[in-house]
Amino acid sequence: MNEKTLVLIKPDAVAKGLTGNIISDLDNLGLKMIGLKLVKVTDELAKAHYLEHKERPFFNDLILHITGKLHNNAPVIAIVYEGESAIEKIRKLAGSTNPEKAELKSLRGKYGRIHSETKCLETVIHSSDSAESAKREIALWFAQDELIK
Ligand code: PPS
Repeated sequence: MNEKTLVLIKPDAVAKGLTGNIISDLDNLGLKMIGLKLVKVTDELAKAHYLEHKERPFFNDLILHITGKLHNNAPVIAIVYEGESAIEKIRKLAGSTNPEKAELKSLRGKYGRIHSETKCLETVIHSSDSAESAKREIALWFAQDELIK
């Protein structure tokens, strides 16, 4: 099925200079990039994005991370991809949530870590987990006219 999905290259990866490598790996999936921008994430946007996780114990870390506060105020690179099974293909490339358990060749396996002091999971990228989430997340991060038709 043709799908759209949101990818966020997170502040840990931006701060480490990994964006080129990550976009290169994403390009190799053969999907179409239809939107891309650099975003300095506000608390408001972060909380709206992760709304479904607000009762979870790591919610505060999640917000500190995505707003760049754990990584020198680094921004996020937000990308929309479109293509056949885009959601599943990118989730597979991202790998398991815990970087120490992620498949070695996945993005999290290659580039993720658990921060030694904060214990925050540095998960490198976010990607939408369903068509419904993708629709909501794309509308939150991009205006219609920022996407290529
Ligand atoms: S998933 O991939 O959505 O099924 O994973 P889930 O376990 O539901 O986690 C939801 C998001 O929370 C992030 N996460 C954490 N961040 C910081 N510290 C800890 N301990 C932690 N545990 C989970 C996880 O990476 C998911 O964020 P995104 O940005 O969607 O990857």
